[in-house]
Amino acid sequence: MLRNSETGFGLVTIVLHWTIALLIFGLILSGFVMQRVEIDPALQFTLYQWHKSFGFTALGLALLRAIWWLVERNPSPLPSLSPLERKASRVTHDTLIVLAIAVPLAGWAVASTSTLDIPSFYFNVMVIPHLPLAKSEASENFWTFVHALLAYVTLGLAAVHAVAALYHHFMRRDAVLTRMLGSGAPSSGMSARDAQKRDDAVVRRK
Ligand code: HEM
Ligand code: HEM
Repeated sequence: MLRNSETGFGLVTIVLHWTIALLIFGLILSGFVMQRVEIDPALQFTLYQWHKSFGFTALGLALLRAIWWLVERNPSPLPSLSPLERKASRVTHDTLIVLAIAVPLAGWAVASTSTLDIPSFYFNVMVIPHLPLAKSEASENFWTFVHALLAYVTLGLAAVHAVAALYHHFMRRDAVLTRMLGSGAPSSGMSARDAQKRDDAVVRRK
């Protein structure tokens, strides 16, 4: 099923979620490496171009996801979650959606303000124009700082978010992780009481 339902995520949300997650972790790793490891300048240039191409892809998908998230209903939180957990997961998800857009935008600002004026070749297929920002060393340094800061904040928040999902799966044994893996049904370990509570909540909302 493409669309979200009352109790589960649809294929569109699931594919966007995991593709963006993979891209973000890969881009943080490549950004960290390309800035610190001493490598041949030609290879470094290629790495930067790959980083920018995948970064623009992440930006496009994050925008799509934000639109989808605005127009599509989200499944109700599982009844096994306390009010505080619901609030915390809502704030975390909202922040991650904003960061997934802000990080590549700041990266684009770095490329656009650099006095080296290196074009961004999107997978060697087309050139993505720079943002209309003044080029100066001060501006480039500022955006580099913002880009790095936001990227590492995203890493920290995504790590907490992932640990929370694993905690729910292995310790609380509820369906938080499995429904993001394509199964609306409770995991095999979910207690009958939790499953009943979930079903009751769905019935009450109808
Ligand atoms: C979700 C997308 C992105 C993530 C997670 C990401 C992450 C990172 C990270 C972690 C660094 C290293 C920061 C440091 O340790 O100082 C970095 C550097 C960099 N990123 Fe990104 N990036 C993304 C998208 C982009 C985009 C779209 C562009 C450009 C179009 C870009 C351009 C750059 C550049 C030019 C640097 C090097 C800055 C310098 O040389 O000082 N990034 N990125
Ligand atoms: C290994 C890493 C990750 C795991 C295990 C994971 C797991 C999950 C799970 C289980 C949910 C469903 C929560 C619920 O039922 O309410 C979820 C939702 C969500 N996650 Fe992640 N996640 C990971 C990485 C990320 C990353 C890197 C981002 C974004 C930067 C992200 C952003 C979101 C958002 C925005 C939602 C809300 C639903 C949506 O619109 O996609 N996640 N995640």
